[in-house]
Amino acid sequence: MNNNAFALKGSVIYSQDCNTLVSAATSYLICEDGKVAGVFETIPSRFEGIPITDYGNKLIIPGLIDLHVHAPQYTYRALGMDLELLPWLNTYAFPEEAKYAEEAYARKAYGRFTRALSASATTRAAIFATLHVPATNILMDLVEQTGVQAYIGKVNMDRNSPDNLIETTVQSVEATEKWLKGCVGRYENCKPMLTPRFIPSCSNELMAGLGELQRKYKLPLQSHLSENASEIAWVQQLHPDTHCYGDAYEKYGVFGGECPTIMAHCVHPNEAELELMDKNGVFIAHCPQSNMNICSGVAPVRTYLERNMRVGLGSDVAGGADLSIFKAMADAIRASKLRWALKDKTLAPLTVPEAFYLATKGGGAFWGKVGSFEEGYEFDAVVLDDSNLEGSEEFSVQQRLERIIYLSDDRNVIHKFIKGKQIR
Ligand code: GUN
Ligand code: FE
Repeated sequence: MNNNAFALKGSVIYSQDCNTLVSAATSYLICEDGKVAGVFETIPSRFEGIPITDYGNKLIIPGLIDLHVHAPQYTYRALGMDLELLPWLNTYAFPEEAKYAEEAYARKAYGRFTRALSASATTRAAIFATLHVPATNILMDLVEQTGVQAYIGKVNMDRNSPDNLIETTVQSVEATEKWLKGCVGRYENCKPMLTPRFIPSCSNELMAGLGELQRKYKLPLQSHLSENASEIAWVQQLHPDTHCYGDAYEKYGVFGGECPTIMAHCVHPNEAELELMDKNGVFIAHCPQSNMNICSGVAPVRTYLERNMRVGLGSDVAGGADLSIFKAMADAIRASKLRWALKDKTLAPLTVPEAFYLATKGGGAFWGKVGSFEEGYEFDAVVLDDSNLEGSEEFSVQQRLERIIYLSDDRNVIHKFIKGKQIR
């Protein structure tokens, strides 16, 4: 008997590709050494005798991936949706983030964020902190305890920012390097990630310094791209020599390629930007709720899928009010329908299998073989109880998933496994 194996029995469903959901009303999802060994109708002989947890007809899905979220903005989620991006940052985001200079505030506020993250169906996330190193370490310590696999970034910003939320270029680079060194050997579940806020808040010298750190330490990087019309025009003024916003990152070698990169939003790419993102394998974090709340628009996700580009979903709290990636799936589908109806009939709306793919395998690819139950994938699984939705016996497994996407909340999430370890 294999001592490092176990099975979960239930109604299993996962994405094979963006058009194909695989499901079975009753099957065994087997974990071996933290990886998926397969989904079987009966236990194969080599796994005979392994422990089995029987979840009856509860749903078992791969853990969800949040490719873009601002932990410090969780405190004021659902407030301040009356402005577009740039005034929204100045009026709501920056004043709140300035409070994280105080460690006691950070501990209280990040405690709320991590409790919500833990209760959600999210198993992996790419997270912005603030520019404050002590507060960022507090966030990493708290997320580490949840078992969620996270990339977390101390934010860099040395220009166009308020006096109480800004660093000098030298401070920003030095503090980042010191923070990176402090992370070594400290975490199992959290990893540091370079996080220049966006081009308008980072001087050329700062971007050059972060590019050097990226090459020295081989770090991934996250930032924002082509979210809002005024922002894009501002970047063009700041970098008149570029063909697109993405070029302003590319200039410093931090736009994909050797540097695994997540760019949030990508609502308004021009052809040059599409080609550059595609060529460099940049991961796009599609954040539909945020894009609606702060009036940014709707990203051409169908184009990204048709071109086989790397794309997943983000909550973008607090541009998005909700941490739930189920809500992000429903919002992605709804937003794509409005885009189709009002803007571009050539890009068909997203389907449920496509939205589920984005939330699992699409975003999970940033971590490697993550987000599916195909053999060899990391064993990240979420068990869902949909009995409160009533009538589940009348529906197929795929229909039950569809109802969960539109109707569920955290109370439906009963267990979470990450890399084969039960964390909830
Ligand atoms: N661009 C720069 N900073 C931010 C932020 O905090 N949220 C969003 N949505 N976009 C940004
Ligand atoms: Fe954001």
